[in-house]
Order: sequence, then C-alpha cells, then structure tokens
Amino acid sequence: MTENGRNKIEKLLNNPVFHTIRDISDEMGLRSYVIGGFVRDIYLNRPSKDIDVVVVGSGIELAEKVARRLGGLRLSVFKNFGTAMLKYRDLEVEFVGARKESYQRHSRKPIVENGTLEDDQNRRDFSINALALSLNKDSYGDLLDPFDGMNDMKNGIIRTPQDPDITFSDDPLRMMRAIRFATQLKFRIEDATFEGIKNNKDRIEIISGERIADELNKIVMSDKPSIGFKLLEISGLLAIIFPELQAMKGVDKVEGRAHKDNFYHTLEVLDRIVPTTDNLWLRWSAILHDIAKPITKRYDKNLGWTFHNHNFLGSKMIPRIFKRMKLPLNEKMKFVQKMVDLHMRPIILSEDIVSDSAVRRLLFEAGDDIDELMTLCEADITSKNEEKVKRYMRNFKVVRRKLKEIEEKDRVRNFQPPVTGEEIMETFGISPCKAIGDLKAIIKDAILDGEIENNHEEAYALMLKKGKEMGLKPVK
Ligand code: CTP
Repeated sequence: MTENGRNKIEKLLNNPVFHTIRDISDEMGLRSYVIGGFVRDIYLNRPSKDIDVVVVGSGIELAEKVARRLGGLRLSVFKNFGTAMLKYRDLEVEFVGARKESYQRHSRKPIVENGTLEDDQNRRDFSINALALSLNKDSYGDLLDPFDGMNDMKNGIIRTPQDPDITFSDDPLRMMRAIRFATQLKFRIEDATFEGIKNNKDRIEIISGERIADELNKIVMSDKPSIGFKLLEISGLLAIIFPELQAMKGVDKVEGRAHKDNFYHTLEVLDRIVPTTDNLWLRWSAILHDIAKPITKRYDKNLGWTFHNHNFLGSKMIPRIFKRMKLPLNEKMKFVQKMVDLHMRPIILSEDIVSDSAVRRLLFEAGDDIDELMTLCEADITSKNEEKVKRYMRNFKVVRRKLKEIEEKDRVRNFQPPVTGEEIMETFGISPCKAIGDLKAIIKDAILDGEIENNHEEAYALMLKKGKEMGLKPVK
C-alpha cells in the first residue's frame, strides 16, 4: 500500500466510533473489521458515510455495547438478518456477524451460517469490494486483501473473487452491479468475469424490476452511460431487460442505401446530455427518443429510409416500458413522453423559415420544459458532416432567440385561455356543450397563429364573432 493510502486510513480510523469498536472488540475477545464499499471508496477518493463492520461473532451484541458506550445512541436491530445499525454524527454504521452463505438456484436468499472473515470475504461480489481493515488493537488499520483487490483497483479491473459462475448465479443482481461499477469507475470487467455474466444472463429473471431499475439508473446517471449500455448489449442482458433498445441495433441496406445504427446513435445522444443531479429523466428521454424507429422503419424508392411518426408512436410506447421496468408512472413519465413526442419539432422548425406562429405553438406545447427539449434536440445532432452540424447549430440559435422574443411578447409558455368556459356559457346563456370547446379551440389557435393578441379584449371579441356565426346569441 502507498504511504498516501496508509495516511488516509489512519485519518479515517481516527474516529471515536472506530476507537470504541476496537476497545469493545478487544474486551470481548472478538475480531472485527470494516469491510466492503467503505474501504474501496477510501482508495477511490470517494469518501462514503456508510460503514459496514463485520465481527467474527455476534454483530448485534457488539453493536449494543458500542451504542451504549458512545453515549446511549439509538440502535436499530434487525434480528432476522442478524444486523444492527447505529448513527453516529454523519456516519451510518451497520454491524453484522461474519457469515458463510450457500445459495439455492431459484432464489437470491441464501442459507446463512456463522463463518470466518475469509468466508465472509469469499461471499462478496468483487475483489475490490472484499477489502477489509482490521479494527483490533494489535493490527489496527491493517488491510486484509485475499483476492488482490488492491491490484485490481490500481489496474481498474472488476473481477469476482470466486468462480464467476458461482458469484453470479448466487446473486444475479451482481451482473448489473459489475456493469454499473465498470461504468461509474471506468474499470474493465476482466474476461472470465464477463464470460460469467454471459453464461448467467438468463438468471437475471429472478431479480425484481425495482433492483434492476436502480442499477440501470446509476448507469444512466454516470459520466458516460454508453459504456454500460454497450456492456449490457454485448453480455446479452439488454435483450432481456430492455428488448426495445436492443431492437434498435443494426443497419438494413436496400439498393445500396443503409440507415444509421439507431442504437449507437441513441448512446451518442445520451452521452452528450451532461449529467446533473436532476436530469435523470432528460437522460431517459434521450434513451427513448427514437425507440419507435424499428417499428416505423420503411424503405421508399424515392425517399430512402423513413421512420414516419416515430416520435408520436415512441411516446405511446413509454407507459408500457416504464411499467415493465418499474420506473415511475407519474409526471416524470409524462415529461419523458412529451420530450419524445416533441423531439423533432425544433429540427423541423429550424429547417424552415422560423415563423412566429410555429415558435408560439412549440412554446405552447412544451411549456416550461422548452429548455430541456432544446438541450435534447441539440444533443440529437450527431452527424459526422461538420457543415451540417454547423448549420443546425446556427439554426437552433435562431430558434432559441425567437423562443425568447415570442415568450416575452406573447407569454404562451404557460398558456391560460383568456376567455374561460364559464364566461362563454354566461355570455350566450348555454349549458355545457361541444360549442364551448370549439370556441376555446378557435381562440387558442388564433392566438398561436398570431391572428389576435393574447389578451381578454381581443379574445372576447373573437368569441362574440365566432359564436354568432355558429348561431349563438349573447344574452346580455
Ligand atoms: N455486496 C455483494 N453482493 C451484492 C451487494 C453487495 O457482495 N449484490 C457486498 C459488497 O461487498 C459490497 C457490500 O456488500 O461492497 C455493500 O453493498 P452496497 O452497500 O449495496 O454497495 P457498495 O459496494 O457499498 O456500493 P454502492 O454504495 O455504490 O452501491
């Protein structure tokens, strides 16, 4: 271990919580260790607040004594799992007895027995997640690294400590974790480990959709999600968990004309949307923007490849996909649907002369999501033709400027009809009927097309005129 690594450990372990665990373990004659993600993250410079402590003996008993000595801290005990958790300042410490696990084929729930530290390290997913630091006085801070995890960390490698077929078959969620860590950390999955994923891919079926979605979202939110999606594809997992995305891969050629590979195009668009803490759903919109291309693909002798209406049909596919993948079926999904439905509009708009009414209509439909729509559209330009890209970007600038001007002038972003249904009913003395909806639509269209201003006076005048044409008579 480097001098630097040693210093970091000393600093982190110089904390009353670890000192107390040390003292009590020694008094009880138990060996205890801090293990797993916390140790890994020390070396990766990603300090974490979740600490796992493994005890060769009863984790709950040790935890009870530690909680008492630290000043009567509240302890959450999970008897069924043999674990206990306490919070100390901003740290969350979980105690568990070292265990040996044996799995059955149909379930992720293992049969658990007490074991040694080695047994406990053996049952872990990857060499970099099996590192342990001793907490006893005679060896405080010593690293126990039976699978050469430090070397894998240095070389950027994800590797299972045991035969990968056993590690993955025991808990198939680990296949998703391997790909997620490889994506987040930009590590390579070692060949035999990757083979293990390919061999066991069908076992992903026993994992709940929620857990898969959780890992997938971590891939989506990493710096370069394409790394993860490519690994999912090559391993065969993508075809199982996300067949619609798998169907985008490949090119067809007719009369010597090929279309672009929509899978790789989608990944490029996704990578171009810079991750922020709150744009998970914009990134999902990127993943799904062309999802209906495979089902709308046609070859036309004159036009070449077309994907007519893929934006609209794509937005209709989303509820089914979200439901199956256990993604939220609320306004987040509606946002993704809207993005997918509208994703062609700014491009079409920019190809034409940018008319005020087209801009107004786009603003009306996108509402407050207009900026995100523009971000998606700009990311969607992945052409290798530099001239073409420049032209699009120039046009998008014009669209953005126009959007701003029109919004300032006409305020249609959060359009509220200047004449309400009640007012129409009162004016003409009528009860709810189709004519009211028709009049409202006429007023809205006239505003969006720039025929009248977005104000009550002009809208009211138009309502009177059109109402009379429809045979309605004002009662006052
Ligand atoms: N672990 C495992 N198999 C799993 C999940 C977890 O072997 N399917 C082990 C690993 O040793 C892991 C530790 O349990 O380091 C803690 O798991 P968890 O808190 O879920 O993940 P971390 O590895 O800490 O990483 P992250 O917080 O990024 O999920």
